[in-house]
Amino acid sequence: MTEPRDPKTHTEVHHIADPGSTRVATYLAQPDEVGRVLLLYSGGLDTSVMLKWIQDEYDAEVVALTVNLGQPGEDYDVVRGKAIQLGALDCHVVDAREDFAREYVLPAILANADYGDGYPLFTALGRPLIAKLAVEYARRTGCDTIAHGCTGKGNDQVRIEGTIATLAPELKVIAPVRSWRMGRDEEIAYARKHGIPVKGGTESAPYSIDDNLWGRSSEGRWIEDLSHAPDDDVFQLVTRPELAPDEAETVTVEFEAGVPVALNGQRMELVELLDAAAELGIKHGVGIVDHIEDRIVGLKVRDIYEVPAAAIILKAHKELERLVGTIHQNQFKPGLDQKWAYLVYAGLWWEPLRTDIEAYIRHVNERVTGTIGLKLYKGSVRVVTRESPNAVYDAQLATFADSGGLFSQEASPGFIELWSLQSRMAHRLRSE
Ligand code: ARG
Repeated sequence: MTEPRDPKTHTEVHHIADPGSTRVATYLAQPDEVGRVLLLYSGGLDTSVMLKWIQDEYDAEVVALTVNLGQPGEDYDVVRGKAIQLGALDCHVVDAREDFAREYVLPAILANADYGDGYPLFTALGRPLIAKLAVEYARRTGCDTIAHGCTGKGNDQVRIEGTIATLAPELKVIAPVRSWRMGRDEEIAYARKHGIPVKGGTESAPYSIDDNLWGRSSEGRWIEDLSHAPDDDVFQLVTRPELAPDEAETVTVEFEAGVPVALNGQRMELVELLDAAAELGIKHGVGIVDHIEDRIVGLKVRDIYEVPAAAIILKAHKELERLVGTIHQNQFKPGLDQKWAYLVYAGLWWEPLRTDIEAYIRHVNERVTGTIGLKLYKGSVRVVTRESPNAVYDAQLATFADSGGLFSQEASPGFIELWSLQSRMAHRLRSE
């Protein structure tokens, strides 16, 4: 085993192939249990250093797995080539976009999922799928351990390890970033020493990015300074509203039983539709969120989100759902939606309450059929038209013109007298 040295002091850094691990959690691997590791590999600095480090520290083999959830602009041939070059036995690249859209994003749409008023959960939705695939590939390739690149301060460790411990009690986990105590400088030094290509400049740390077809997040750097308004360079996905077109554009989204099926009258598969919605949102500067978030592990953190597809689709879905629901349904569902979003955010995708709640949500959504028109203009999305065969709406009843005997205005005062009865009694008691 090679012991890396601290780049400044040149003393040995004792990286932990963590022998005390199982005192903390039974699913963590003892060093001597690690023979072949399935590494969740992104191609970035952390997981590239990890690929080499695991081979050296544990004297183990590594199989890499890279999951495509529709993160824009990724070259998977390059990622795969890099993994092989760093000594992976193999690097599997899985295109999971279809599954992700159908099994994870769609339930979130039906649940109007929005954690903490602004976060549509794209990362939180992706993690249980990524971890489930890690389990499948670990079993298929004879691995005893799964490794991931999450830190000890974030939500993703909870989502990934919670999934592995739930689905595969026989597999162990290692999370080197949590224990190896290398900062970014040490990692770069390690990478240079072992011929690991480091892309981009190494002067200043980049933003920490995570993305997929449902959105993109940026963390770190000035984002940690709450009084610092966003620098323009953070927006790598959505057009800044001030640069968006001067002409507004209206888009229609059609739903069948809650499922978005067409955009501007054109039917599309879900992945294609979400991509097309994102493209429109990107053009019009839609879906920028500057979010303060309560993490699972107690920290309060700021994220910059770019969620162009979610900004359009969620808004349209929510509007249509309200149109076809009664006042009672419409008051009840947001509480369930919020609980659903929290369970998913908090890494409890496999908790049965999630699917229990979904049973109700899916039942309500059977009637969510129709079309919503939205106007996109320099960062704003505004509902402008609604159509549904199931709308609990009757223009004849609602009109200021005569309802032709369908609604008796003469009956209203009687209603008001009874409706206000208890309130009036209570008021009188208090003023005596
Ligand atoms: N705050 C969001 C969440 O917890 C986004 C996290 C992004 N993940 C990351 N590894 N940078 O879901």
